[in-house]
Amino acid sequence: MESLITLVNKLQRACTALGDHGEESALPTLWDSLPAIAVVGGQSSGKSSVLESIVGKDFLPRGSGIVTRRPLVLQLHKIDEGREYAEFMHLPRKKFTDFALVRKEIQDETDRETGRTKQISPVPIHLSIYSPNVVNLTLIDLPGLTKVAVEGQPDSIVQDIENMVRSYIEKPNCIILAISPANQDLATSDAIKIAREVDPKGERTFGVLTKIDLMDKGTDAVDILEGRAFRLQFPWIGVVNRSQADINKSVDMIAARRREREYFANTPEYRHLTHRMGSEHLGKMLSKHLEQVIKSRIPGIQSLINKTIAELEGELNRLGKPIAADAGGKLYAIMEISRIFDQIYKEHLDGVRPGGEKI
Ligand code: GDP
Ligand code: NA
Ligand code: MG
Repeated sequence: MESLITLVNKLQRACTALGDHGEESALPTLWDSLPAIAVVGGQSSGKSSVLESIVGKDFLPRGSGIVTRRPLVLQLHKIDEGREYAEFMHLPRKKFTDFALVRKEIQDETDRETGRTKQISPVPIHLSIYSPNVVNLTLIDLPGLTKVAVEGQPDSIVQDIENMVRSYIEKPNCIILAISPANQDLATSDAIKIAREVDPKGERTFGVLTKIDLMDKGTDAVDILEGRAFRLQFPWIGVVNRSQADINKSVDMIAARRREREYFANTPEYRHLTHRMGSEHLGKMLSKHLEQVIKSRIPGIQSLINKTIAELEGELNRLGKPIAADAGGKLYAIMEISRIFDQIYKEHLDGVRPGGEKI
């Protein structure tokens, strides 16, 4: 059985063959109807670190103070084979294979918009990563929420950042990773506050607790992680990201993950929770959740694509005999699309098509 996300990836690819079908193409709609994942939280709560570990690559600027100063919209694209690379929308045709240079370009492009100041800008940076090791997904890194303006920032900055963050997470297809650092009082968590505002029932909010390793001696996060301190619909996930000292020493992702696993396994308070803690578990939970969301959207996506196909067929009829060589490619794509839908209904939706027809 192929995973639903793999099948949707194939669907997306088959749809690309229909892609030049003018404005009505199903392709952008398909992208839009798929969930995006955004990180929200206070400054230096660990947002960029969490996002990096979900992607499994070192490429984001991180550090103490205000580092992320523009939204970063990151699209992951699965490719069948070949070397992974990254591309920025503002630098078309330039392929980055060195991810340290990706990080540098994010910094430089931030400075180009804001100057080397502490100013922020709502203008997003668009980055795409093409790799055999990712699933098609959009992730959004956001500037941190603050309570006061610091030197070089206008007074309006507190509200500006909040509005910017809200504009991303209020979209119903946005999955919110609400990041709270364990070494601060949860009652003051900006992440929980704003997430609750746009998603009061907690249907698309995941609570992530960072910096568990930095808690005061004699305190622990068990009450939070077990859902007693603040209840969310989904279980809380604790993570241990790389510290500033680790970043300075360039500790790599694999070593960091191993240490994170060991941390939970070897700390008596958390040992019983080990199986549902850590960055790897977070990644798995998110893909499981994505599968569920996609499942619920499949019938809608199918009717959208059917509409596009019908229009395409109408157009071909109007033109008479298929003239363009790529008409054959389009017909092939249509056959491929309906084959993939059949497979999706058979393997993931109990063999029942929308409308109740059994396959
Ligand atoms: P952001 O501002 O929310 O994007 O946070 P960053 O990801 O840039 O992290 C801010 C600082 O906190 C960096 O110096 C990180 O190394 C550090 N940090 C983040 N998460 C953790 C963690 O779980 N444990 C430790 N010790 N440090 C962390
Ligand atoms: Na930071
Ligand atoms: Mg950041």
